[in-house]
Amino acid sequence: MIGEKSSALFDLSGKNVLVAGGAGQIGFSFCEILADAGARVAIADIDTQMAQDKTARLPDMLRKRIGIYQTDVTDDQSVKTTLAQVRSDLGVLYGLVNSFHYKGNTRRLDTTSNFFAPFESYPLEAWELVHDVNLKGTFLMCREAVPYFKENSGGVIVNLSSTYGNVSPNKSIYGDSGINSPVAYASSKAAIINLTRYLATHLCEYNIRANVLSPGGVFNNQKEDFLRNYTALTPLKRMATAGDYQGAILFLLSDASRYMTGANLVVDGGWTAW
Ligand SMILES: NC(=O)c1ccc[n+]([C@@H]2O[C@H](COP(=O)([O-])OP(=O)(O)OC[C@H]3O[C@@H](n4cnc5c(N)ncnc54)[C@H](O)[C@@H]3O)[C@@H](O)[C@H]2O)c1
Repeated sequence: MIGEKSSALFDLSGKNVLVAGGAGQIGFSFCEILADAGARVAIADIDTQMAQDKTARLPDMLRKRIGIYQTDVTDDQSVKTTLAQVRSDLGVLYGLVNSFHYKGNTRRLDTTSNFFAPFESYPLEAWELVHDVNLKGTFLMCREAVPYFKENSGGVIVNLSSTYGNVSPNKSIYGDSGINSPVAYASSKAAIINLTRYLATHLCEYNIRANVLSPGGVFNNQKEDFLRNYTALTPLKRMATAGDYQGAILFLLSDASRYMTGANLVVDGGWTAW
């Protein structure tokens, strides 16, 4: 049986955590483990249908701890409205997770933006849209959350980067899969790491911690060629499951990481180790 000390370290009972992008593959898996640790979770996502569908499949105990808020993280008014609504529904804010990214296939833009275009012909429109969601969205969520954290006498921020915010994507793994990892993803994900250091050093006076989680690729029915190439370059010899990041998010949001701020936790099966 788990001891009192170790379970207390990870306990989030009664704490309110907003997960922006919480309807996503990794994002929703965060919501599940945070609710399991006792938190009240507010999913802020542009795709509320996906959030509802996933939440409906949860056992009662977890489902009743999760609320859903329609939010566009690129729109400051929408971000303000969500935070105010969460404050009024749940009370003071303890945690914020920014777990969204622009993929080129959301309703905001169809594939004409050419999200996957090569560097030489990368369209400005796609560059701007990707940075708008990934970087501006993270900035806005963090900026607007500060007053609510102050009200709580502190708080915890976790921003999602990626292996590709730490190292360049390896072009050789994509072959003719029809996908790649575009320049705008890499640059916006790298910027999130230093934005987070900035937050850690400028918000420490309010007892707000800010860290980055940098995941590696999650298995999502990618083509066989891609899987083989990705796996060959991963010391742990597989892609991640979304659940592989639950331990990390619990650590970063809980007292277990209370002496950690401005850091970048890389959880990537060893991808960046060589
Ligand atoms: N899945 C991976 O392989 C992987 C690898 C490394 C890093 N990451 C990072 O992890 C985080 C979570 O990834 P995921 O796999 O859950 O992604 P996902 O694509 O499954 O989900 C992204 C979520 O963001 C939401 N979103 C997009 N634009 C939005 C907007 N303007 N306003 C509000 N919500 C918006 C989407 O509706 C979706 O629910 C992202 O930051 C991603 O870059 C993912």
